[in-house]
Amino acid sequence: MEVIILPTKEECAYLGAGIIANLIRDNPKCVLGLATGSTPVPVYNELIRLHKENNLSFAEVTTFNLDEYIGLSADHPCSYRYFMQEQLFNEVDVDLNATHVPNGLADDVQSECESYEELITKSGGIDLQILGIGSDGHIGFNEPCSSLSSRTRMKTLTGETIEDNSRFFDSVDDVPRHCITMGVGTILDTRSVLLFAFGEGKADVISQSVEGPITSMVPASALQLHQRVKVIIDDAAASKLSNIDYYKEVYANRP
Ligand code: PGA
Repeated sequence: MEVIILPTKEECAYLGAGIIANLIRDNPKCVLGLATGSTPVPVYNELIRLHKENNLSFAEVTTFNLDEYIGLSADHPCSYRYFMQEQLFNEVDVDLNATHVPNGLADDVQSECESYEELITKSGGIDLQILGIGSDGHIGFNEPCSSLSSRTRMKTLTGETIEDNSRFFDSVDDVPRHCITMGVGTILDTRSVLLFAFGEGKADVISQSVEGPITSMVPASALQLHQRVKVIIDDAAASKLSNIDYYKEVYANRP
């Protein structure tokens, strides 16, 4: 894992969006894995700026989102399909037919999950996966105790996640209890990962994920098994790491 600590989330977003933009410029047909939540929003804002001001084109890019709530339609303002349209897709030149978010209204959830995995495989696999991290250690919606080799499937959200995400809904009772999420194994199969975390509220879980043991109780710790992960975090999210000086030295002296 490469741990990159920068003073602010804006600097993290600038760096991360630059890495994504370089990938798109090198390989215009690349496959991006996308995430929702507050964390990726500044990264998407920077990508939109690069599209509008620096001619970054998404025209040939394919995207796969990590997860979706079961029971919310694509036009529900809290669905992750809706979020992606608002936060990125409507602002860039991506072909909407090449953007994929699990269907939260699928009649047959099992076959929706299998098709999602097949689509990822058919597209050649995900070149770069963007991740946030839940305060309980989830990546995607892989809650604690998720199999570290899991594939896309239905999961039940933890009380902590429901509470965390209730800020987007009118009331906590409106938060769906179930979701479809790529598995930890699906995420480990991606060619590279950028995990972002900002703010003091993520400091404990970042320390557990980066420096703690690999355990299904902290699903993000499975990323220690991935060969190409950059953990891009602000000073506050890094504040409980033991080896801050070392990570900063490695980054300052990068070849
Ligand atoms: P957040 O959520 O970015 O809104 O903090 C992260 C996540 O749950 O993965």
